[in-house]
Amino acid sequence: MSGESSKAALGRRIAATVATNTSGTPAYELPWVEKYRPVFLEDIVGNSETVERLKIIGKDGNMPHLIISGMPGIGKTTSILCLARALLGDTYKEAVLELNASDERGIDVVRNRIKGFAQKKVTLPLGRQKIVILDEADSMTAGAQQALRRTMEIYSSTTRFAFACNQSNKIIEPLQSRCAILRYSRLTDSQVLRRLLEICVAEKVEHSEEGLAALIFSAEGDMRQAINNLQSTVAGFGFVSADNVFKVVDSPHPIAVQALIKACYTGKIDVALEKLEELWGKGYSAIDIISTMFRVTKTIDTLSEHSKLEFIKVIGFAHMRILEGVSTLLQLRGCIAKLTKINMPPELFVPKEESTDE
Ligand SMILES: Nc1ncnc2c1ncn2[C@@H]1O[C@H](COP(=O)(O)OP(=O)(O)OP(=O)(O)O)[C@@H](O)[C@H]1O
Ligand SMILES: [Mg+2]
Repeated sequence: MSGESSKAALGRRIAATVATNTSGTPAYELPWVEKYRPVFLEDIVGNSETVERLKIIGKDGNMPHLIISGMPGIGKTTSILCLARALLGDTYKEAVLELNASDERGIDVVRNRIKGFAQKKVTLPLGRQKIVILDEADSMTAGAQQALRRTMEIYSSTTRFAFACNQSNKIIEPLQSRCAILRYSRLTDSQVLRRLLEICVAEKVEHSEEGLAALIFSAEGDMRQAINNLQSTVAGFGFVSADNVFKVVDSPHPIAVQALIKACYTGKIDVALEKLEELWGKGYSAIDIISTMFRVTKTIDTLSEHSKLEFIKVIGFAHMRILEGVSTLLQLRGCIAKLTKINMPPELFVPKEESTDE
């Protein structure tokens, strides 16, 4: 079963969905992130080297204690669930204890529930162990993590632990030293695109290329966000175009921001300020505007490398001040003024005495 191709698995799920829809049950829609959550390790997109290692563990058994860390929405929880399924098959229900941030996970739970589960006898195939999945482990208190140290050792012949977290440094060092640490990186644009296209075909979504590009631009490598925004756009507008996506995402349209940046590097401060005020007037916050400015600047090819770096520096400082709380229009205007100055030829900086020679 583990050798099943991703297309076959996707096809089967689609068939299952169609079956439930025609069998008379109400056709209420599952969130697509859940409907298309990979079931097998083969279906997981990206981080291929790490996923390959997991596949080998899934086949051979003897899973080490694991920590998977990385940004939100890139497949950490999914990978652990797929691995547990690959290892335990039919015994999954009995042999897996899954605790996430919504469960109580203080010291008492470690002492009672986790220890109790570790002591429980379950008949498993040779080379397989029970698995405790601690999702969002970075939100566990240090005390609860400390309490796990000895438990992990004492029961390691029968129970293995898998942690998923956004920041591995929030896991205390002694636990890190007991685990193999796998880092997931954010997904590339082409990886997100491939998955979105698969879902578009399965759900018969009408879309334009720009629409998908807009989804990818706003998701920044977060597959969950890309799929959620796809579904929201389809639910709200029926057609996935760039305009519709940006309405759903509710962030400034990159084309408008691009015009603003262009006005800056061609020295047209009035135009730039006008564009800024337009965006501000639409109700976007300073943080929305500045973060889109950063992302747009990164992708402009007409800007020289030197200017681009200078732009990013100035935008970065403004971003920092906004995060510190100074999120005013004045802050953004100051940033625009500095950006416009970067590409101005030196002869335009006329010393004050000479220009006001009356
Ligand atoms: N690599 C991937 N391949 C395919 N689908 C993915 C991938 N990553 C995320 N998804 C989609 O996004 C959803 C959320 O993924 P998952 O729960 O694994 O994220 P996560 O990395 O655990 O995020 P968080 O840190 O927020 O818990 C999945 O249900 C799936 O639909
Ligand atoms: Mg998760």
